[in-house]
Amino acid sequence: MNDINTIEDLYSMLDRYTEGVDWDTFYTKRDKPAPFLKYYKLPDKCVVNFIKEHNIRSACEFGCGEGRNAIYLAKNNIDTEAYDLSETAIENAKRSARESKAEKVVFKSGNIFALDLRNKKFELVIDSGIFHHLSPHRRLQYRDIVSSILAENGYFILLCFAAGEDGADEVGDYEFYKSKQTGVAFTEERLKIFWGEKFDFVELRKGENIVEPQMWESEYLYICVLKKK
Ligand SMILES: C[S@@+](CC[C@H](N)C(=O)[O-])C[C@H]1O[C@@H](n2cnc3c(N)ncnc32)[C@H](O)[C@@H]1O
Repeated sequence: MNDINTIEDLYSMLDRYTEGVDWDTFYTKRDKPAPFLKYYKLPDKCVVNFIKEHNIRSACEFGCGEGRNAIYLAKNNIDTEAYDLSETAIENAKRSARESKAEKVVFKSGNIFALDLRNKKFELVIDSGIFHHLSPHRRLQYRDIVSSILAENGYFILLCFAAGEDGADEVGDYEFYKSKQTGVAFTEERLKIFWGEKFDFVELRKGENIVEPQMWESEYLYICVLKKK
């Protein structure tokens, strides 16, 4: 019999009601029209612009996928740690890092909720597409993790599904547990309420459809640059 004695027991029980995406199959089959699969070597435009304007020495990326942002950071001399649930994605990321001689990045596979990140501090945390895939009951824990590993005055770059675009679930948190769970679309207001609790918004804008030789962005995402309060 499974009992609920701790908050983690409660979260684990709720996790069973949320299937989400099978990410290993996703990266093996590569049959979904996701731009981050197509442009898997190009960093996000907002990340490139941010790095040009800020002198960052350490960074962490959650849900790094095949490493396009983390490798870009490492090539810009930033000590980077990058995590993803999918072992397939992490293997591909490590191969790309070797091929492009990006030595300052460490990739690790694992669930962010099982990582031991105590004693870690970074000047920048990046989330390009993981937050909108987390179940509502995990979001508060996620916000605490991001906040706790950020150094004082640290920055958080967040890209997440924008409401009104195709593909994502336009559902409230109660309905989420009964929906198809491909990822939650957020409004500006929802993002401000949730992240504003612990972060100041430096930038919040809708992306545009842009593909340049060295970077890209997409109109289906909100792009947020947040600063730890
Ligand atoms: C939309 S993809 C984005 C990948 C990458 N950031 C990019 O843009 O190329 C979301 C990523 O989050 C990862 N992910 C989802 N839930 C996770 C969790 N609980 N812990 C770690 N990674 C997770 C998935 O494996 C997937 O690679």
